[in-house]
Amino acid sequence: MKIAILTSGGDSAGMNAVVRSVVKAGILKGCEMWVVREGYEGLVRGNSEYLKATGSETPPAIKSEPDTVPGYPPSILNSLRFGDGKRLRDGTGDYTGGRTLKGRYIVRVGWDDVRGWFSEGGTLIGTARSAAFRTPEGRLSAAHNLIKEGIDALVVCGGDGSLTGADVFRAEWPQLVEQLRSQSQITDAQAQAHAHLKIVGLVGSIDNDMAMTDMTIGAPTALHRICEAIDNINSTASSHSRAFVLEVMGRHCGWLALLAGVAGGADFIFIPERPPKEMPWEDEMCAAIQDHRRIGKRKTIVIVAEGAIDSELNPIKAEYVKEVLSERLGLDTRVTTLGHTQRGGRPCAFDRIMPTLQGVDAVAALLESTPETPSYMIGIRENKITRVPLMEAVEMTRAVAKAVAEKDFEKAVSLRDPEFLE
Ligand code: F6P
Repeated sequence: MKIAILTSGGDSAGMNAVVRSVVKAGILKGCEMWVVREGYEGLVRGNSEYLKATGSETPPAIKSEPDTVPGYPPSILNSLRFGDGKRLRDGTGDYTGGRTLKGRYIVRVGWDDVRGWFSEGGTLIGTARSAAFRTPEGRLSAAHNLIKEGIDALVVCGGDGSLTGADVFRAEWPQLVEQLRSQSQITDAQAQAHAHLKIVGLVGSIDNDMAMTDMTIGAPTALHRICEAIDNINSTASSHSRAFVLEVMGRHCGWLALLAGVAGGADFIFIPERPPKEMPWEDEMCAAIQDHRRIGKRKTIVIVAEGAIDSELNPIKAEYVKEVLSERLGLDTRVTTLGHTQRGGRPCAFDRIMPTLQGVDAVAALLESTPETPSYMIGIRENKITRVPLMEAVEMTRAVAKAVAEKDFEKAVSLRDPEFLE
Protein backbone atom coordinates (compact mmCIF):
# COMPACT_ATOMS: atom_id res chain seq x y z
CA MET A 1 0.00 0.00 0.00
CA LYS A 2 1.16 3.56 -0.69
CA ILE A 3 0.25 5.81 2.21
CA ALA A 4 0.57 9.60 2.37
CA ILE A 5 0.27 11.70 5.50
CA LEU A 6 -0.48 15.38 5.83
CA THR A 7 -0.95 17.80 8.70
CA SER A 8 -3.63 20.43 8.36
CA GLY A 9 -5.12 23.44 10.17
CA GLY A 10 -3.41 25.05 13.15
CA ASP A 11 -0.14 23.33 14.07
CA SER A 12 0.04 21.54 17.38
CA ALA A 13 2.77 19.89 19.42
CA GLY A 14 2.81 16.18 18.67
CA MET A 15 2.08 16.43 14.95
CA ASN A 16 5.68 15.46 14.16
CA ALA A 17 5.38 12.48 16.47
CA VAL A 18 2.35 11.39 14.43
CA VAL A 19 4.22 11.73 11.13
CA ARG A 20 7.20 9.82 12.51
CA SER A 21 5.02 7.08 13.89
CA VAL A 22 2.89 6.67 10.76
CA VAL A 23 5.96 6.64 8.51
CA LYS A 24 7.82 4.12 10.61
CA ALA A 25 4.80 1.89 11.26
CA GLY A 26 3.99 1.91 7.54
CA ILE A 27 7.54 0.98 6.57
CA LEU A 28 7.57 -1.86 9.09
CA LYS A 29 4.39 -3.19 7.47
CA GLY A 30 5.98 -3.03 4.02
CA CYS A 31 4.13 0.09 2.80
CA GLU A 32 5.57 2.88 0.70
CA MET A 33 5.38 6.08 2.70
CA TRP A 34 4.85 9.63 1.48
CA VAL A 35 4.34 13.01 3.08
CA VAL A 36 2.30 15.89 1.70
CA ARG A 37 3.82 19.25 2.54
CA GLU A 38 1.65 22.26 3.45
CA GLY A 39 -1.50 20.28 4.24
CA TYR A 40 -4.35 20.11 1.73
CA GLU A 41 -2.74 22.99 -0.16
CA GLY A 42 0.14 20.67 -1.08
CA LEU A 43 -2.30 18.01 -2.16
CA VAL A 44 -4.00 20.47 -4.50
CA ARG A 45 -0.67 21.72 -5.92
CA GLY A 46 1.02 18.32 -6.24
CA ASN A 47 4.36 18.13 -8.00
CA SER A 48 3.59 19.98 -11.22
CA GLU A 49 5.53 23.13 -10.24
CA TYR A 50 8.59 20.94 -9.77
CA LEU A 51 7.96 19.28 -13.14
CA LYS A 52 7.81 22.69 -14.81
CA ALA A 53 11.09 23.78 -13.22
CA THR A 54 13.08 20.59 -13.78
CA GLY A 55 11.33 18.64 -16.55
CA SER A 56 10.96 15.66 -14.23
CA GLU A 57 8.41 14.84 -11.54
CA THR A 58 10.71 12.68 -9.48
CA PRO A 59 14.21 13.58 -8.39
CA PRO A 60 16.68 10.70 -8.60
CA ALA A 61 16.70 8.55 -5.47
CA ILE A 62 19.58 8.98 -3.09
CA LYS A 63 21.22 5.76 -2.04
CA SER A 64 22.77 6.54 1.27
CA GLU A 65 22.69 3.40 3.35
CA PRO A 66 24.08 -0.11 2.95
CA ASP A 67 21.75 -2.76 1.52
CA THR A 68 21.95 -5.08 4.47
CA VAL A 69 22.43 -4.36 8.13
CA PRO A 70 22.22 -7.33 10.47
CA GLY A 71 19.02 -7.26 12.51
CA TYR A 72 17.20 -4.70 10.37
CA PRO A 73 14.17 -5.78 8.31
CA PRO A 74 14.58 -5.23 4.55
CA SER A 75 11.55 -2.89 4.57
CA ILE A 76 13.51 -0.37 6.65
CA LEU A 77 16.61 -0.67 4.49
CA ASN A 78 14.59 -0.35 1.31
CA SER A 79 12.97 2.76 2.64
CA LEU A 80 16.38 4.27 3.36
CA ARG A 81 17.23 4.05 -0.30
CA PHE A 82 14.38 6.33 -1.17
CA GLY A 83 15.76 9.45 0.34
CA ASP A 84 13.47 12.04 -1.22
CA GLY A 85 12.72 13.23 2.25
CA LYS A 86 16.39 13.81 2.95
CA ARG A 87 16.18 16.66 0.53
CA LEU A 88 13.82 18.28 3.00
CA ARG A 89 16.98 18.96 4.96
CA ASP A 90 19.21 19.71 2.02
CA GLY A 91 20.73 23.05 1.19
CA THR A 92 18.77 25.60 3.09
CA GLY A 93 18.11 23.28 6.00
CA ASP A 94 14.52 24.38 5.71
CA TYR A 95 12.22 21.39 5.98
CA THR A 96 9.37 22.94 4.07
CA GLY A 97 11.16 25.07 1.52
CA GLY A 98 14.37 23.16 0.80
CA ARG A 99 16.02 24.21 -2.46
CA THR A 100 15.85 20.88 -4.26
CA LEU A 101 12.22 20.31 -3.31
CA LYS A 102 10.75 23.64 -4.33
CA GLY A 103 7.47 23.05 -6.07
CA ARG A 104 7.31 19.44 -4.96
CA TYR A 105 4.61 18.87 -2.38
CA ILE A 106 4.12 15.12 -2.41
CA VAL A 107 7.34 13.49 -1.32
CA ARG A 108 8.34 9.92 -0.69
CA VAL A 109 10.06 9.48 2.67
CA GLY A 110 12.16 6.85 4.35
CA TRP A 111 12.94 5.75 7.90
CA ASP A 112 15.78 8.20 8.29
CA ASP A 113 13.80 11.21 7.26
CA VAL A 114 11.67 11.24 10.39
CA ARG A 115 14.34 10.25 12.87
CA GLY A 116 14.06 12.22 16.11
CA TRP A 117 10.93 14.06 15.03
CA PHE A 118 8.95 13.22 18.18
CA SER A 119 10.61 15.99 20.17
CA GLU A 120 10.13 18.80 17.63
CA GLY A 121 7.36 21.40 17.99
CA GLY A 122 4.91 22.46 15.27
CA THR A 123 4.83 20.40 12.10
CA LEU A 124 7.97 19.93 10.03
CA ILE A 125 6.04 19.03 6.88
CA GLY A 126 4.14 22.29 7.05
CA THR A 127 0.45 23.04 7.36
CA ALA A 128 -1.99 25.48 5.83
CA ARG A 129 -5.62 26.44 5.96
CA SER A 130 -6.32 25.75 2.30
CA ALA A 131 -9.04 27.72 0.53
CA ALA A 132 -8.37 25.81 -2.72
CA PHE A 133 -9.26 22.44 -1.17
CA ARG A 134 -12.68 23.81 -0.22
CA THR A 135 -13.55 24.12 -3.91
CA PRO A 136 -14.59 21.16 -6.13
CA GLU A 137 -11.78 22.03 -8.60
CA GLY A 138 -9.25 21.95 -5.79
CA ARG A 139 -10.41 18.52 -4.64
CA LEU A 140 -10.33 17.25 -8.23
CA SER A 141 -6.73 18.38 -8.55
CA ALA A 142 -5.91 16.77 -5.16
CA ALA A 143 -7.39 13.45 -6.33
CA HIS A 144 -5.44 13.66 -9.57
CA ASN A 145 -2.16 14.34 -7.76
CA LEU A 146 -2.65 11.36 -5.45
CA ILE A 147 -3.49 9.04 -8.33
CA LYS A 148 -0.51 10.27 -10.35
CA GLU A 149 1.79 9.17 -7.53
CA GLY A 150 -0.14 5.91 -7.15
CA ILE A 151 -1.10 6.75 -3.55
CA ASP A 152 -4.14 4.86 -2.30
CA ALA A 153 -4.38 5.82 1.35
CA LEU A 154 -4.30 9.10 3.21
CA VAL A 155 -3.70 9.94 6.87
CA VAL A 156 -4.90 13.39 7.89
CA CYS A 157 -3.84 14.94 11.18
CA GLY A 158 -5.75 18.11 11.98
CA GLY A 159 -8.68 19.67 13.80
CA ASP A 160 -12.39 19.23 13.19
CA GLY A 161 -12.34 21.41 10.03
CA SER A 162 -9.52 19.34 8.53
CA LEU A 163 -11.24 16.08 9.39
CA THR A 164 -14.50 17.35 7.91
CA GLY A 165 -12.51 18.04 4.71
CA ALA A 166 -11.18 14.47 4.81
CA ASP A 167 -14.69 13.13 5.16
CA VAL A 168 -15.98 15.17 2.21
CA PHE A 169 -13.01 14.06 0.10
CA ARG A 170 -13.61 10.41 0.76
CA ALA A 171 -17.36 10.70 0.08
CA GLU A 172 -16.70 12.49 -3.22
CA TRP A 173 -13.83 10.22 -4.27
CA PRO A 174 -15.76 7.95 -6.72
CA GLN A 175 -17.16 10.98 -8.58
CA LEU A 176 -13.73 12.62 -8.69
CA VAL A 177 -12.17 9.47 -10.15
CA GLU A 178 -14.97 9.19 -12.71
CA GLN A 179 -14.54 12.85 -13.68
CA LEU A 180 -10.77 12.43 -14.14
CA ARG A 181 -11.34 9.27 -16.20
CA SER A 182 -13.97 10.85 -18.42
CA GLN A 183 -11.65 13.83 -19.04
CA SER A 184 -8.88 11.33 -19.94
CA GLN A 185 -6.69 12.73 -17.20
CA ILE A 186 -6.25 9.20 -15.86
CA THR A 187 -6.50 5.85 -17.60
CA ASP A 188 -9.22 3.24 -17.07
CA ALA A 189 -6.66 1.09 -15.29
CA GLN A 190 -5.78 3.94 -12.91
CA ALA A 191 -9.48 4.59 -12.29
CA GLN A 192 -10.00 0.94 -11.43
CA ALA A 193 -6.93 0.72 -9.21
CA HIS A 194 -7.98 3.87 -7.33
CA ALA A 195 -11.71 3.16 -7.06
CA HIS A 196 -11.57 3.73 -3.29
CA LEU A 197 -9.55 6.09 -1.18
CA LYS A 198 -8.71 4.86 2.30
CA ILE A 199 -8.63 7.66 4.84
CA VAL A 200 -7.83 7.79 8.53
CA GLY A 201 -8.03 10.90 10.69
CA LEU A 202 -6.00 11.80 13.76
CA VAL A 203 -7.02 14.79 15.82
CA GLY A 204 -4.28 17.39 16.02
CA SER A 205 -5.52 20.49 17.83
CA ILE A 206 -4.59 22.33 21.01
CA ASP A 207 -8.27 23.04 21.64
CA ASN A 208 -9.37 19.53 22.69
CA ASP A 209 -12.65 20.27 20.99
CA MET A 210 -13.33 17.00 19.17
CA ALA A 211 -16.19 14.78 20.30
CA MET A 212 -15.70 11.02 20.79
CA THR A 213 -12.13 11.29 22.00
CA ASP A 214 -10.83 12.27 25.42
CA MET A 215 -7.80 14.13 24.14
CA THR A 216 -6.50 15.79 20.99
CA ILE A 217 -2.85 15.87 19.97
CA GLY A 218 -1.21 19.05 21.27
CA ALA A 219 -3.79 19.88 23.96
CA PRO A 220 -1.70 18.48 26.87
CA THR A 221 1.35 20.51 25.79
CA ALA A 222 -0.68 23.69 25.38
CA LEU A 223 -2.18 23.18 28.82
CA HIS A 224 1.31 22.71 30.23
CA ARG A 225 2.45 25.98 28.60
CA ILE A 226 -0.50 27.85 30.12
CA CYS A 227 0.27 26.41 33.56
CA GLU A 228 3.88 27.56 33.25
CA ALA A 229 2.67 31.03 32.25
CA ILE A 230 0.36 31.17 35.27
CA ASP A 231 3.24 30.13 37.55
CA ASN A 232 5.37 32.91 36.08
CA ILE A 233 2.64 35.50 36.36
CA ASN A 234 1.94 34.44 39.95
CA SER A 235 5.33 35.82 41.00
CA THR A 236 4.45 39.34 39.88
CA ALA A 237 0.83 39.03 40.94
CA SER A 238 1.89 38.09 44.50
CA SER A 239 4.74 40.57 44.71
CA HIS A 240 2.56 43.53 43.69
CA SER A 241 -0.71 42.12 45.03
CA ARG A 242 -2.10 42.53 41.52
CA ALA A 243 -4.87 40.96 39.48
CA PHE A 244 -4.14 39.33 36.12
CA VAL A 245 -6.65 38.47 33.46
CA LEU A 246 -5.30 35.75 31.16
CA GLU A 247 -6.84 35.16 27.78
CA VAL A 248 -6.23 31.63 26.55
CA MET A 249 -6.91 29.93 23.23
CA GLY A 250 -9.42 27.19 22.52
CA ARG A 251 -11.69 28.72 19.90
CA HIS A 252 -15.24 27.70 20.98
CA CYS A 253 -14.03 25.20 23.53
CA GLY A 254 -13.25 25.93 27.17
CA TRP A 255 -11.14 22.88 27.94
CA LEU A 256 -7.80 24.72 28.06
CA ALA A 257 -9.20 27.54 30.19
CA LEU A 258 -11.01 25.26 32.61
CA LEU A 259 -8.16 22.84 33.16
CA ALA A 260 -5.56 25.62 33.36
CA GLY A 261 -7.73 27.28 35.98
CA VAL A 262 -7.84 24.09 38.02
CA ALA A 263 -4.12 23.42 37.62
CA GLY A 264 -3.08 27.02 38.26
CA GLY A 265 -5.45 27.91 41.11
CA ALA A 266 -7.45 30.61 39.28
CA ASP A 267 -10.01 32.67 41.17
CA PHE A 268 -12.54 32.80 38.36
CA ILE A 269 -12.81 31.13 34.94
CA PHE A 270 -14.92 32.03 31.92
CA ILE A 271 -15.62 29.30 29.38
CA PRO A 272 -18.11 29.08 26.48
CA GLU A 273 -19.79 25.86 27.64
CA ARG A 274 -20.80 27.07 31.10
CA PRO A 275 -21.36 30.83 31.24
CA PRO A 276 -21.78 32.36 34.73
CA LYS A 277 -25.31 31.60 35.93
CA GLU A 278 -25.95 34.94 37.60
CA MET A 279 -26.62 38.06 35.57
CA PRO A 280 -24.97 40.47 35.87
CA TRP A 281 -22.00 38.09 36.11
CA GLU A 282 -19.83 41.00 37.20
CA ASP A 283 -21.41 40.78 40.69
CA GLU A 284 -20.72 37.05 40.94
CA MET A 285 -17.09 37.45 39.88
CA CYS A 286 -16.41 40.41 42.18
CA ALA A 287 -18.01 38.68 45.16
CA ALA A 288 -15.86 35.57 44.65
CA ILE A 289 -12.67 37.59 44.31
CA GLN A 290 -13.49 39.75 47.32
CA ASP A 291 -13.99 36.59 49.39
CA HIS A 292 -10.58 35.29 48.30
CA ARG A 293 -8.92 38.61 49.16
CA ARG A 294 -10.68 38.65 52.55
CA ILE A 295 -9.13 35.35 53.54
CA GLY A 296 -5.68 36.70 52.75
CA LYS A 297 -4.99 36.05 49.06
CA ARG A 298 -2.54 38.63 47.69
CA LYS A 299 -3.06 37.81 44.04
CA THR A 300 -5.97 37.34 41.69
CA ILE A 301 -5.97 35.25 38.52
CA VAL A 302 -8.96 35.28 36.17
CA ILE A 303 -8.88 33.08 33.08
CA VAL A 304 -10.93 33.97 30.03
CA ALA A 305 -11.28 31.47 27.20
CA GLU A 306 -11.13 33.28 23.88
CA GLY A 307 -14.62 32.00 23.06
CA ALA A 308 -16.15 32.85 26.48
CA ILE A 309 -19.73 34.11 26.49
CA ASP A 310 -22.27 35.19 29.09
CA SER A 311 -25.61 33.46 29.45
CA GLU A 312 -27.08 35.84 26.86
CA LEU A 313 -24.37 34.76 24.41
CA ASN A 314 -22.48 38.06 24.48
CA PRO A 315 -18.71 37.60 24.29
CA ILE A 316 -16.76 38.15 27.51
CA LYS A 317 -13.54 39.96 26.71
CA ALA A 318 -10.41 40.09 28.87
CA GLU A 319 -10.11 43.89 28.58
CA TYR A 320 -13.63 44.34 29.92
CA VAL A 321 -12.96 41.94 32.82
CA LYS A 322 -9.89 44.04 33.64
CA GLU A 323 -12.01 47.23 33.71
CA VAL A 324 -14.47 45.60 36.09
CA LEU A 325 -11.71 44.44 38.45
CA SER A 326 -9.99 47.81 38.40
CA GLU A 327 -13.08 49.98 38.75
CA ARG A 328 -15.24 47.91 41.08
CA LEU A 329 -12.58 46.33 43.29
CA GLY A 330 -9.80 48.89 42.86
CA LEU A 331 -7.34 46.13 41.90
CA ASP A 332 -4.19 46.97 39.97
CA THR A 333 -5.00 44.76 37.00
CA ARG A 334 -3.15 43.65 33.86
CA VAL A 335 -4.26 41.62 30.86
CA THR A 336 -1.97 38.94 29.43
CA THR A 337 -2.92 37.30 26.15
CA LEU A 338 -0.87 34.15 25.87
CA GLY A 339 -1.47 33.80 22.13
CA HIS A 340 0.70 31.45 20.12
CA THR A 341 3.14 30.78 22.96
CA GLN A 342 0.52 28.21 23.97
CA ARG A 343 0.70 26.35 20.69
CA GLY A 344 4.38 25.93 19.98
CA GLY A 345 7.47 24.44 21.52
CA ARG A 346 8.52 20.94 22.40
CA PRO A 347 5.76 18.43 23.01
CA CYS A 348 5.33 17.10 26.55
CA ALA A 349 5.74 13.35 27.08
CA PHE A 350 2.05 12.60 26.60
CA ASP A 351 2.07 14.44 23.25
CA ARG A 352 4.81 12.07 22.11
CA ILE A 353 3.38 8.85 23.50
CA MET A 354 -0.26 9.24 22.44
CA PRO A 355 0.48 10.26 18.82
CA THR A 356 3.00 7.43 18.53
CA LEU A 357 0.42 4.84 19.60
CA GLN A 358 -2.27 6.46 17.45
CA GLY A 359 0.02 6.55 14.41
CA VAL A 360 0.62 2.81 14.68
CA ASP A 361 -3.13 2.20 14.87
CA ALA A 362 -3.78 4.53 11.93
CA VAL A 363 -1.61 2.35 9.71
CA ALA A 364 -3.30 -0.80 11.05
CA ALA A 365 -6.73 0.72 10.33
CA LEU A 366 -5.72 1.48 6.74
CA LEU A 367 -4.35 -2.00 6.18
CA GLU A 368 -7.55 -3.54 7.55
CA SER A 369 -9.81 -1.16 5.65
CA THR A 370 -12.19 -2.44 2.95
CA PRO A 371 -14.58 -0.49 0.70
CA GLU A 372 -17.30 -1.36 3.24
CA THR A 373 -15.55 -0.12 6.38
CA PRO A 374 -15.95 3.54 7.31
CA SER A 375 -13.07 5.98 7.51
CA TYR A 376 -11.94 6.00 11.09
CA MET A 377 -10.84 8.68 13.47
CA ILE A 378 -8.22 7.42 15.86
CA GLY A 379 -8.87 8.75 19.35
CA ILE A 380 -8.28 7.83 22.96
CA ARG A 381 -10.87 6.86 25.58
CA GLU A 382 -9.95 5.97 29.14
CA ASN A 383 -6.31 5.49 28.17
CA LYS A 384 -7.09 3.14 25.32
CA ILE A 385 -6.49 4.01 21.67
CA THR A 386 -9.86 3.88 19.92
CA ARG A 387 -11.31 3.94 16.41
CA VAL A 388 -14.62 5.65 15.75
CA PRO A 389 -16.22 6.42 12.39
CA LEU A 390 -14.82 9.77 11.30
CA MET A 391 -18.20 10.95 10.06
CA GLU A 392 -19.86 10.26 13.43
CA ALA A 393 -17.16 12.14 15.32
CA VAL A 394 -17.42 15.11 12.98
CA GLU A 395 -21.23 15.15 13.25
CA MET A 396 -21.12 14.87 17.03
CA THR A 397 -18.65 17.76 17.22
CA ARG A 398 -21.01 19.88 15.13
CA ALA A 399 -23.94 18.88 17.38
CA VAL A 400 -21.97 20.10 20.42
CA ALA A 401 -21.28 23.46 18.73
CA LYS A 402 -24.98 23.75 17.82
CA ALA A 403 -26.06 23.01 21.39
CA VAL A 404 -23.73 25.76 22.67
CA ALA A 405 -25.11 28.19 20.09
CA GLU A 406 -28.64 27.33 21.27
CA LYS A 407 -27.64 27.89 24.91
CA ASP A 408 -28.31 24.23 25.72
CA PHE A 409 -25.14 23.90 27.74
CA GLU A 410 -26.09 20.70 29.58
CA LYS A 411 -26.69 19.03 26.22
CA ALA A 412 -23.38 20.33 24.87
CA VAL A 413 -21.43 18.91 27.78
CA SER A 414 -23.29 15.59 27.75
CA LEU A 415 -22.74 15.14 24.01
CA ARG A 416 -19.06 15.97 24.37
CA ASP A 417 -18.64 13.63 27.29
CA PRO A 418 -21.73 11.72 28.46
CA GLU A 419 -20.13 10.78 31.79
CA PHE A 420 -18.96 14.29 32.69
CA LEU A 421 -22.22 15.41 34.33
CA GLU A 422 -22.71 12.25 36.41
O1 F6P B 1 -7.49 25.79 16.67
C1 F6P B 1 -6.27 26.13 17.22
C2 F6P B 1 -6.18 27.62 17.48
O2 F6P B 1 -4.93 27.88 18.10
C3 F6P B 1 -7.31 28.21 18.30
O3 F6P B 1 -7.17 27.97 19.67
C4 F6P B 1 -7.24 29.66 17.92
O4 F6P B 1 -8.51 30.25 18.01
C5 F6P B 1 -6.80 29.60 16.48
O5 F6P B 1 -6.22 28.32 16.26
C6 F6P B 1 -5.82 30.67 16.09
O6 F6P B 1 -5.58 30.56 14.73
P1 F6P B 1 -4.40 31.31 13.95
O7 F6P B 1 -3.12 30.63 14.33
O8 F6P B 1 -4.75 31.12 12.53
O9 F6P B 1 -4.41 32.72 14.43
